[in-house]
Amino acid sequence: MTVRSAVIPAAGLGTRFLPATKATPKGLLPVVDVPAIQLVVEEALAAGIEDVIVVLGPGQDGIREHFAPNPTLEAELEERGKLDALAAVRRATIPSVRFARQAEALGLGHAVSVAESMVGDAPFAVLLGDDLIDPSVPLLRDMLASHARTGASVLAAMHVGAREIAMYGCIGPGEADGDLVRVLSIVEKPDPADAPSDLAVIGRYVLTPAIFDALRRTSPGAGGEIQLTDAIGLLAADERVFALPFAGGRFDVGNPLDAMKAQVERARTHDEIGPAFRAWLNELLR
Ligand code: G1P
Repeated sequence: MTVRSAVIPAAGLGTRFLPATKATPKGLLPVVDVPAIQLVVEEALAAGIEDVIVVLGPGQDGIREHFAPNPTLEAELEERGKLDALAAVRRATIPSVRFARQAEALGLGHAVSVAESMVGDAPFAVLLGDDLIDPSVPLLRDMLASHARTGASVLAAMHVGAREIAMYGCIGPGEADGDLVRVLSIVEKPDPADAPSDLAVIGRYVLTPAIFDALRRTSPGAGGEIQLTDAIGLLAADERVFALPFAGGRFDVGNPLDAMKAQVERARTHDEIGPAFRAWLNELLR
């Protein structure tokens, strides 16, 4: 079945970025010149997703405004002949994006569950805004192709260091099937000593609609939150779930240090400022 919808949970409080996120939703923090959430929406659309559903928390209406048309600003830029700026505004105007509301921060699993009626009884993708994927890496496209071949849920995964696994959902792997690895079990943020592998879930998922029933059966887990990972564990007991390991081209913008690395990487390869930024960086590091 073709995957039409993607759910992008954006309701997090962004506590690691305070005070920048005091009045600005975390998803609107720019990576050089484009808000992270826009990069994620563009990734979904580029992979062929037609219906993007962003899950908003309280105080995040700026995200809705970001994707809405702004005719006054467009007219002003046009009149002043600022055509590059006009193109940037038009690129950010994606009125087809729909919004769901998560009234309380009850966890990632809960954020996905509030989009159920909008997704309907069909497989769908989930993209987490804290993980940015290099646009030249066709990760979501590959995951959708794996889903089309198997009909099963597919999780993006990456091998990480032994200590790092404590920051991720960790996969208990089974047999390989081509590029895919069967997921037999999954545990959220394990103690490294108990981790079943070094295979971490990265924030891209293609899920069958049975996940919604699994979410209803999921009690609060790590951090007292309804974890998507725990629901995927229940799903894996009922039907096949696969992981698609990939390497490289992922930036974690969920914490300030890694967000700064993503800034540098995007600035370094930016069409306009890239050459001057690289020259400055070389000078700085001499
Ligand atoms: C979330 C998920 C976790 C996953 C990670 C990927 O954790 O709960 O399973 O491995 O995203 O970035 P968070 O980073 O929101 O704590």
